[in-house]
Amino acid sequence: MSEQGHGVRTLVTGAAGGLGREIAVQLGRRGCAVGICDINATQLEETARLVSAQGGAVEQIACDLTARNAPEEAVGRVVSLWGGIDVLVNNAAYGVIEPFLDATYEAWTRTLALNVTALAMACKAAGRVMRDQRSGRIINITSPGSRMALPDYTAYTASKAGVDSITRAAAVALAPHGVLVNSLAPGMMDTEMQRSTEADLARVNGRDDLKAFLDERTGRIPLGRRADISEVAEAVVWLSLDAPRYMTAERLNMSGGLDKD
Ligand SMILES: NC(=O)c1ccc[n+]([C@@H]2O[C@H](COP(=O)([O-])OP(=O)(O)OC[C@H]3O[C@@H](n4cnc5c(N)ncnc54)[C@H](O)[C@@H]3O)[C@@H](O)[C@H]2O)c1
Repeated sequence: MSEQGHGVRTLVTGAAGGLGREIAVQLGRRGCAVGICDINATQLEETARLVSAQGGAVEQIACDLTARNAPEEAVGRVVSLWGGIDVLVNNAAYGVIEPFLDATYEAWTRTLALNVTALAMACKAAGRVMRDQRSGRIINITSPGSRMALPDYTAYTASKAGVDSITRAAAVALAPHGVLVNSLAPGMMDTEMQRSTEADLARVNGRDDLKAFLDERTGRIPLGRRADISEVAEAVVWLSLDAPRYMTAERLNMSGGLDKD
């Protein structure tokens, strides 16, 4: 096993599309063995095809990560197949636009079950194996929203604040064992999640001029454009394989300057 990529055993959650798929493909390009996990089995198949085309080993794990023990089982699949796990990327997430005063139990429970509980269980399961290996890296995908007051998106932003908290705690828990835990906050990327979220955000704010609404939001990004998933994935791959071994408990902002404070 080399940390340069070849033979590195990885698991990427939420890999059926968007950022997760791109991370899986880029890890495959670096020669990693890639476990890909998602609730969407059909689109996961396509990710598997794309990763295989890079020449790397790939394992599809179709599951609902909010089911009890599902994160532990996903990690277990990678470990039993490849003898260990070197990199875990917790990317799967759910979010729903809902004005704060209309908050529902369903939206909060579903969001926290995936973004917080499943992520913590995956960190725990991979962390135990990495502790015994005395090496490994965990990357949790957070959001600039974790530090913002967004009253139409509070369950999501609260869940991402939870991700930041888990990242710091896991980093400290695993530091004595040589395991690194960091997070990455992507800016606005044009993914399925972002498109539907912003359409709903426009609707609850009474905006029917979606294009103008989106342009205004893009205009708030200091770099003046949205992120390409490939450049965000490059940063995740850097954290996974290349970042200096003294870097842990860090949060890397890939938000074009949006998250700057
Ligand atoms: N898109 C953005 O602009 C943006 C901005 C900041 C942070 N993020 C974060 O980046 C990450 C990737 O987001 P994306 O935009 O690619 O989203 P996406 O919706 O395209 O991908 C999320 C994936 O998670 C999967 N998933 C959902 N529920 C699941 C479950 N219960 N079990 C297993 N898998 C499940 C979905 O099927 C999907 O493939 C997320 O953590 C998101 O919060 C995205």
